[in-house]
Amino acid sequence: MSVLVLGLETSCDETSAAVIEDGRKIRSNIIASQIPVHQKYGGVVPELASRRHVEDVIPVIDQALSVAGVGLADLDAVGVTYGPGLVGALLVGVAAAKALSFAASIPLIGVHHLEGHMFAPLLTHPELAPPFVGLIVSGGHTSLVHVRDYSSFQLLGQTRDDAAGEAFDKVARVLGLPYPGGPHVEALARSGNPTAIRFPRSFAGDGTFEFSFSGLKSAVINVLHTASQRGETLVAADVAASFQAAVVDILAEKALQALQQCKVPSLVLSGGVAANSCLRNELERRCQSAGFRFYSPDTVLCTDNAAMIGCRAYYQLQAGDIADLRLNAIPSLPLGGKR
Ligand code: KG4
Ligand code: ZN
Repeated sequence: MSVLVLGLETSCDETSAAVIEDGRKIRSNIIASQIPVHQKYGGVVPELASRRHVEDVIPVIDQALSVAGVGLADLDAVGVTYGPGLVGALLVGVAAAKALSFAASIPLIGVHHLEGHMFAPLLTHPELAPPFVGLIVSGGHTSLVHVRDYSSFQLLGQTRDDAAGEAFDKVARVLGLPYPGGPHVEALARSGNPTAIRFPRSFAGDGTFEFSFSGLKSAVINVLHTASQRGETLVAADVAASFQAAVVDILAEKALQALQQCKVPSLVLSGGVAANSCLRNELERRCQSAGFRFYSPDTVLCTDNAAMIGCRAYYQLQAGDIADLRLNAIPSLPLGGKR
């Protein structure tokens, strides 16, 4: 008999529900994106996000069940993101999951959002299994994690300030590009010269797994500001390409260093910024030349989605890591934190 898990994700600006079979097979993955709601504000407005989640969560769950061709009675568990994220947004998913768990008498599983991202590539690559090094690069996080097995993780390092995605979004804003900026910066960078401007690579070669992207973001702003004061015009595509090259360089250097230190065979990239093809190609190239395997998820599984939450929840179910109805949203939940 196969095991069916309903995954729910509402930590930021996507309302998503998915049905996952045996941890690896996506039976459905419905994502209601709120990007148009927040675009005119240049970033996510927490109160608007919560309200939209309330409106969307039940229709999205209904659609996920119907596309998967299953009913509530067929589910073996419900897994939900309970942190980190926006508290009001998280609460909507947590409340819905608790209600479903109670109504259908099925186990409730609290999923860490980053653990969900880290497991997303398992849905794309059936042969992939721990141990590996996970590089999670999203709008809120930049973290390197040693994944020893399905329930043992060690955080190697993370960003001290801005996340990589946040830096993409802020640079996009100063370049006059829409929110979320990552895909627009990538598109613009395609016609630019990545060596036109040498931006700083913070913490590169320092032997730690810490990241910092706020200095890089400020350097981009300074370069643009100085040029405009001098009445010079910079080629925006060159700025975008040079910025992107710096981000990719920093991430790749630290990831390779982590692979060597942890002595694992594979690097697993995930999170919204994993959609960036310049990053994927460079990591693939460096992993190949150093004798490591490289994995990344399908593009649709890079940004927030419930399939990754269902996948992670399946492995927690196997390990008996089950929550009860006291499960609460924890906006700054640390990796490996207590429920
Ligand atoms: O994982 P995600 O959906 O949300 C968080 O949990 O933060 O990631 C969203 C982030 C945004 O900052 C967005 O600009 C970035 O991922 N992103 C990209 C690309 N696609 C999305 N960054 C760079 N290149 C891309 N192609
Ligand atoms: Zn995310």
